[in-house]
Amino acid sequence: MTHSDFNGFRLTTAISDPISVSWQSPSNIALVKYWGKTGLQLPVNPSLSMTLAKAYTQTKLTAMPRETEGGIELDFWFEGLQNVAFGQRISKFLNSVTDIFPWLVQVNLKIESQNTFPHSAGIASSASAFSALALCLCTLDADLFGIMLDENEFRAKASYIARLGSGSACRSLFPGFTVWGASKALSGSSNLFAVPVEEVHPVFETLCDTIILVNRKEKPVSSSEGHNRMVGHPFAEARIKQAKNNTTELLQALKSGDKQTFIRIVENEAFTLHSLMMTSEQGFMLMQPETVRIITRIQELRRETGLDICFTLDAGPNIHLLYFKEQFEQVNKLIVEDLVENNEQNMLIYDSFGFGPVKVG
Ligand code: PMV
Repeated sequence: MTHSDFNGFRLTTAISDPISVSWQSPSNIALVKYWGKTGLQLPVNPSLSMTLAKAYTQTKLTAMPRETEGGIELDFWFEGLQNVAFGQRISKFLNSVTDIFPWLVQVNLKIESQNTFPHSAGIASSASAFSALALCLCTLDADLFGIMLDENEFRAKASYIARLGSGSACRSLFPGFTVWGASKALSGSSNLFAVPVEEVHPVFETLCDTIILVNRKEKPVSSSEGHNRMVGHPFAEARIKQAKNNTTELLQALKSGDKQTFIRIVENEAFTLHSLMMTSEQGFMLMQPETVRIITRIQELRRETGLDICFTLDAGPNIHLLYFKEQFEQVNKLIVEDLVENNEQNMLIYDSFGFGPVKVG
């Protein structure tokens, strides 16, 4: 499959009335991390994520009649306010997909978007935002041209489009666990779009993710810049091999219900991601003292209590504490009375295994 296989149609007659569509789409948390890209937003290694339940973006896309053709004409609203900075990033993305959706330059566009979670809170807002927008684009395209895709084809196409906006967004299109990047351990997996992991032991559907916020300031190095620093990284080859092995082992653990392997791999991936940052040519560190204090304490508490808890980190200082629903009471007591005890600044967001995007209009 190539990019041009997705090339779409132009309108032969201008639309006469506005036409709208709305989707809500969740964020996801990577368990095996995508870190380093090549070509047209392709990953250098496979990644595996869990789709979240409560952290999502709701996006309404409206196409309106337009008299003259030209570039993208976009009116972008975020949480009830016109947002020029976000609008520019979205316009750039829309310009990059006009071969797939040629009608985008034949209409005026309005996008109204809102998130259920705060900005810069350790939740990938680009994942939920670009997956919601990709779903809106694919649905509007299907409505305008009477395109009939089955559910799997539709999700794969939306995942392909979401990837072009933000790599990790392509994994938000599916419920539960998702793999993006070719892996020998999962048939049908691809670098072009993500695919759902079908064989999952029910215990992993009870995973909870409490995000412990230690800092909400803008990151000193963005994810895009972080990906760039993997080019020529002295450990790149070993990293790619490790990610492939971790994906294979994690898929097996998810299937068999092996919590201990899950915990080992998830923490190994979080440490690896941050080690890669620190050991790149222009090394940088996104963990903060409070991050180190909390993850050290999580490991101690696991040893002391025997609870099945572990952490992961995204490209930032905030901690995702993962555990199983049946241990919610005990883990929550530890979170409140121990982990965040010394720091009233620490904010908590409770999320869990989610069931994927929903069309809401
Ligand atoms: O999708 P991007 O370009 O924002 O990169 C995401 C990178 C990580 O969040 C660190 C890992 C991942 O796989 O989501």
